[in-house]
Amino acid sequence: MEKDISKIKESVTKEVAKTKTILDLNNIKTSYLGKKGSVTKLYEKLKEASAKEKKSLGKDINDVKTFINELLKTKAQEINNSLLEERLKREAIDVTLPGLTINNGSPNILEALIENLEELFISMGYDVVEGPEIEKDLYNFELLNLPIGHPARVAQDTFYTKGEELLLRSQTSPVQIRTMLANKDKTPIRIICPGKVYRRDDDDATHSHEFTQMEGLLVDKRITMADLKGTFDLITHHLFGNDVKTRFRSSFYPFTEPSVELDISCFNCKQKGCHICKQTGWITIGGAGMVHPNVLRNCGYDPEEMSGFAFGFGVERLAMLKYEIEDIRTFYTNDLRIDVDRRDM
Ligand code: DAH
Repeated sequence: MEKDISKIKESVTKEVAKTKTILDLNNIKTSYLGKKGSVTKLYEKLKEASAKEKKSLGKDINDVKTFINELLKTKAQEINNSLLEERLKREAIDVTLPGLTINNGSPNILEALIENLEELFISMGYDVVEGPEIEKDLYNFELLNLPIGHPARVAQDTFYTKGEELLLRSQTSPVQIRTMLANKDKTPIRIICPGKVYRRDDDDATHSHEFTQMEGLLVDKRITMADLKGTFDLITHHLFGNDVKTRFRSSFYPFTEPSVELDISCFNCKQKGCHICKQTGWITIGGAGMVHPNVLRNCGYDPEEMSGFAFGFGVERLAMLKYEIEDIRTFYTNDLRIDVDRRDM
């Protein structure tokens, strides 16, 4: 029996030394300490021993059991430690490395500019209203003093969707009509209207068949061109800084009388002459005027009593000037840098 015990000790030590996995260790445990294991079998032999021998042999068997358990425990720890080490090596992170830049995204540059102007106008008591992009000819042209056959329609030739009744609006000005018709008894009317417009235009660096406008309308008693000028100054200084000058240049729009082009002094060259102002020192950023008496009448207002001003900007044009964007098509393609790079709005 003593011989058996020392043999068991020897062989289990060898086997455990060779083991590399916890699974193998479990198998070893079963083969020694399991129901049919070699140590368990020793207990059976113990029955045959004399009473005197039993005591010391029993102790020896218990000792070898403890010995094997300790051996397995130590080896299991060793295996687990080396597994952990391996894993740590595999998943090591160098925390001193610079992190990855995550683009958070930012508002679309046109949306941001529109919101910026909306805030300015809301602070002056204006409402922001929207109109449909598929518009009635009646509102897009006729009630704006552009009857069927009027030559000025040609300049805004557009897409008709249903005979000559419905069209993709060529301007945001029909929202003026919609608002005036709906609010006859609720003057003053103070609205701005941002939105998309469509024209049959050849697409190039400064033209697109689809673009964005911002319309403005104010109707009340005793509104004069001085009010228009003050409002124009405010927008200009807000967008381009207080040093920029403004001027009205005589123009024609069927729905305003008098009509003007809204010019600002060139913020880029300070009027010395550059490519942005085409050497003129001035940049046109929109059209405006006093609401034509016919338009007021068409919407049920008495021009003797009420007056108003209206204006319209091309939002892309403003953004192109403010952010030095060369090509209008940039707004409609997917180059994210155009939005991400400009965060001052
Ligand atoms: N609707 C004009 C256009 O698309 C822009 C415009 C000019 C709007 C004068 C106005 C205005 O309200 O008074 O060219």
